[in-house]
Amino acid sequence: MDKIRVRGGARLSGQVRVSGSKNASLPILAACLLVDGPTVLEGVPRLEDVRNMCHILEHLGVVHEWLPDGSLRVEVVDDRNVHAPYHYVRTMRASFCLLGPLWARRGRAQVSHPGGCVFGHRPIDLHLKGMRALGADIRIDKGDVHASGPVRGGRVYLGSNFGSTVLGTANTLMAACLAEGETVIEYAAQEPEIADLCRFLRACGARIEGIGTHRLHIRGVPKLRGCRYRVINDRIEAGTLLAAGVLTGGEVEVLGAEPDHLSAFLDALERAGARFEIGFREPGDGAGAELGAELPGLVEARPPRVSREGRALRLPRTGEQGGRLLTDRIFYEDERRVGDGPGEEGIPFLRTLPMDPEELEATDVATMPYPGFPTDLQAQFMALMLVAKGVSVITEKIYPERFIHVSELARLGARIRREGPCAIVQGGRELCGATVMASDLRASAALILAGLVARGTTAIRRVYHLDRGYESLDRKLAALGADIVRLKEV
Ligand code: EPZ
Repeated sequence: MDKIRVRGGARLSGQVRVSGSKNASLPILAACLLVDGPTVLEGVPRLEDVRNMCHILEHLGVVHEWLPDGSLRVEVVDDRNVHAPYHYVRTMRASFCLLGPLWARRGRAQVSHPGGCVFGHRPIDLHLKGMRALGADIRIDKGDVHASGPVRGGRVYLGSNFGSTVLGTANTLMAACLAEGETVIEYAAQEPEIADLCRFLRACGARIEGIGTHRLHIRGVPKLRGCRYRVINDRIEAGTLLAAGVLTGGEVEVLGAEPDHLSAFLDALERAGARFEIGFREPGDGAGAELGAELPGLVEARPPRVSREGRALRLPRTGEQGGRLLTDRIFYEDERRVGDGPGEEGIPFLRTLPMDPEELEATDVATMPYPGFPTDLQAQFMALMLVAKGVSVITEKIYPERFIHVSELARLGARIRREGPCAIVQGGRELCGATVMASDLRASAALILAGLVARGTTAIRRVYHLDRGYESLDRKLAALGADIVRLKEV
């Protein structure tokens, strides 16, 4: 088992390229169960969760191969097995999104109930509601969920007291692609990862309207064929790297970070007084993301294309307010865009600008489904608020128990009080390095961020949590100048 040692005090600087999105890759890999023939996926990150998903798919008769160019080739070669057993699903609850595609393509499915996790109760009622709306006969027996029967189009509302469900939408959407008839999913998740899944499925021949909205309309088709597709970049990794730049007061450029996937997070940074800018690079720039290299000149944004069919979204032009220089970029929902390679404007980037982190202001946030503030950046933002002047209130509306990192941050000297779904953060106190324990993926990242500014040395144990969802985060931070190393836990 590894641990990570961080010595605080470095001001990070340089350029880093964000990896492909874990939360886009996992449902897209599950969707490969639906298609005939090979699929080649570009940009899939080399993560523990991706390895786990590939192992489960192998168990389900799907072969995979990492190609020399870094892409991942996936193909169904044997469709007899329909069982995803507990010892696989318990290691990664996201594998529950195999239920829909397995049932739709093979006529029945048996997937272990994923159970709970450190965030507390993780129900699957909306997943089952979606399956039943498509005609599934659902039975739960000895901890496994069984789905069977013909897949017919239907109409279903997938909202709960916590908003929409990401993987519940994915499960229902994937099954609907091969249903007999039409399906409408109301209150579908709008996360960019779901829009990416929709674009992948359309590239395979699915008929989906309303991509990126709360209402998905799917016309079932008899078959889907494999394709070549590039998954979007990881907005949560991008936000984590930006937080590291702001926290240390350095100039960190995150290449490939898609600003319109991070609007709520950028708004919170701006309200906290952080300074950053948005721009584009020519596709050749920063190709190797040589870290710390002289940053090529900012490429002036060209007049952007505005898609005929898509909605044009415009970032509010705030000029110098809050120090956020805005390149006037019109974002367009070009529903025909397949994948997320560089558009005509080039590769987007977000760059933090040098400042004294102690000038940051305490800022309140509440997590909500996209486009609200992402729960997966809640812990990282809490680490940031530890250096801000004043008291911040962080409200967790998605997973009210997702505060395990609070106790570990307290070991570093943080003063945070829990009040139900809220954490009240007293910022501006000096942090002192200590040994802390990672508990889940995003908490691990928050502990590393706190270690970057704590006096002395912080050791983060059980970093296998980190490796589930970040591709070499420690190496990326080290290349930006952090004093961080990975050590074998003796
Ligand atoms: C996805 O999980 C992400 N995982 C999570 O990221 C993320 O935190 C979460 O969405 C919320 O954005 C992947 O994409 C692999 P949900 P998911 O169903 O789909 C309630 C990470 O760190 N709910 O959107 O499982 C649920 O309790 C991981 O990368 C029901 O009530 O989450 C929660 O309060 C952690 N009934 C809310 O909805 C259901 O049937 C959102 O959950 C399903 C969910």
